[in-house]
Amino acid sequence: MKNKIVTAFAPATVANVGVGFDILGFALSGLGETASVEKIENSKQVHINPIKGYPEISIDPLKNTATAGLVRLIREKNLAFGFKVKLKKEIPVGSGLGGSSTSAVASLIAANSFLKVKLTRSEILDYALTGEEVASGARHADNIAPCIEGGLVLVPTNSTIPPIGIKTPPSLRCVILLPELSIHTKEARQILASAVPLSTMIQQTFNLAGFILGCQNADFDLIRLSLKDVVIEPQRSHLVPHFLQIQAAAMAAGALGCSLSGSGPALFAFARNQKSAEEILKKMKKAALHFELPLRGTWISPIAKKGAFILREKR
Ligand code: HSE
Repeated sequence: MKNKIVTAFAPATVANVGVGFDILGFALSGLGETASVEKIENSKQVHINPIKGYPEISIDPLKNTATAGLVRLIREKNLAFGFKVKLKKEIPVGSGLGGSSTSAVASLIAANSFLKVKLTRSEILDYALTGEEVASGARHADNIAPCIEGGLVLVPTNSTIPPIGIKTPPSLRCVILLPELSIHTKEARQILASAVPLSTMIQQTFNLAGFILGCQNADFDLIRLSLKDVVIEPQRSHLVPHFLQIQAAAMAAGALGCSLSGSGPALFAFARNQKSAEEILKKMKKAALHFELPLRGTWISPIAKKGAFILREKR
């Protein structure tokens, strides 16, 4: 009899959301990737197939974001079997759209279906963080948590507290513009100053509080007033050529805010509805074209309500 193969889908995510460095993130709809997992009987090994289109991604299970968490899972839960993983990568590496988290989460959600005692959501988050750490050198869950939970989430820095979902206006749309660049999160974290001036801290605190309240109350004016990153964006914007001009084009077209998605190079902008999102995207693309910034892709997406899920099981 053929082995059972379980395939899970995990959505792309936008981390930081401008004002919530390492503590805010949301899931996108229509963009994500899958992991197909099967059991390796009588072996505690983890094996990952070479990833199509990405020969540079390590297939050493301890160095791959999809498998590092599985290695830990087998050891800590003392499983009697191992896993074979096949990834289908749809999110370019180093794009700022949570591609390392999707790999880690999708493989864990699929692997979980083989366990007698299922992992809790907080265990899935914790094991997925082991994968994220391989990619970014830090255990921040602002991609992982929305990838698992869906929606816009506030992610506590203390992993014993579960992520907190934040209501968002149903018409809210996210515009994504992905330049033809690659940024390594590890490096983009190393350039950040370790201290923030008090006056900046006060401003950013207001912006975070205002943004969350604006979302909860569907108050677009408050979202637009608050969605300004005065801490991280000024330190990273130089990583994307003409970022400021593209951001200005988005704002002039009516965006509620525009910043780097995660550590970039993708930019995200919020729009109050689909029509406005289309206009904002048009103007952002025009600015990118004007400055001869090549693009890899663009998307318009609502905030996805649903996080990662099992797509299919087959033999
Ligand atoms: N919060 C992270 C960062 C997200 O900006 O470094 C990118 O993985």
